[in-house]
Amino acid sequence: MYPIKRNRRLRSNEAIRSLVRETIISPTDFLVPLFVVEGKGVKEEIASMPNYYRYSLDLLEKEVKELWNLGLRSVLLFVKVPDNLKDNAGKEAINPKGLMQRAIKTVKNACPDMLVMTDVAMDPYSMYGHDGIVENGMILNDESVDILTEMSLSHANAGADFVAPSDMMDGRILSIREAFEDEGFLNTGIMSYSAKYASAFYGPFRDALDSAPVDLKNIPKDKKTYQMDYANRFEAIRETEMDIDEGADIVMIKPGLCYLDIVRDIKEEVDVPVAVYQVSGEYAMLKAAAEKGWLNHDAVMMEQITAMKRAGADIIASYFAKDVVKLINK
Ligand code: PBG
Repeated sequence: MYPIKRNRRLRSNEAIRSLVRETIISPTDFLVPLFVVEGKGVKEEIASMPNYYRYSLDLLEKEVKELWNLGLRSVLLFVKVPDNLKDNAGKEAINPKGLMQRAIKTVKNACPDMLVMTDVAMDPYSMYGHDGIVENGMILNDESVDILTEMSLSHANAGADFVAPSDMMDGRILSIREAFEDEGFLNTGIMSYSAKYASAFYGPFRDALDSAPVDLKNIPKDKKTYQMDYANRFEAIRETEMDIDEGADIVMIKPGLCYLDIVRDIKEEVDVPVAVYQVSGEYAMLKAAAEKGWLNHDAVMMEQITAMKRAGADIIASYFAKDVVKLINK
């Protein structure tokens, strides 16, 4: 008798669907990116990221407590650096009293058990908007790694639980890991942006931090000499395995949605936790379409987040974290 199997039986109502559901989203899946600015009482909406803000330290404290009360347990910090503190040497990046260093302490004071991760790259501090030192139209590798290592130590010193190098210089994970060992930061973790692609989806983020590569003669207009070519798949595995060998505790793929094949490849290849970053452009696209009434915001958001976890991501960095958690807590 046909059909022997009626697959629709397991789909016939929400109770049975939820019973057999393979992928469940929980607040502890998320890393919440946070943008920090100087000042007091500042909560500025980012033009290309509706309902996402830059916070001054006093309001950051409030926001972090709210995240904690919603069940979110990890944040990823980014700072917007005033133009007069930008240079080509990352000097402000290692200032013990710099905005990032104060932001780390602010979060830890407000919520001691909140996991604090920090972005490690030179671009917010760079007068040229690059992740490393620029010389003769090129981004120097080893000199940049030295600064990124100093920067990581400075974040660890301020109390960061994890550093997250997003720069894509070669050899930076080993250098940071060795420095941590030498300086006694034995328990400070490294979440490496291992497979970070040169992507046009980072546009709104660069608006948020005013960190886009500048349009000047002899300054590369893009980051293609260090971030990966989005046409490549096997290279992502190579990059990731190297970062693990160099001492990364968690590896990350970025952007998210267009790169879920890479998430799956890497998840199958490695045995450390795998993170994915649903980046600013992905956030902006959905917000814009929802604003126009063309897409159902919450439904599409949940579909995308679930797809990331289904693809193999153990951790999801997302600007939607708060929206998702509010929705699932309902
Ligand atoms: C900086 C950095 C970027 C992002 C995270 N860290 C931008 C870039 O590499 O140009 C992008 C995040 C996003 O778009 O949400 N190294």
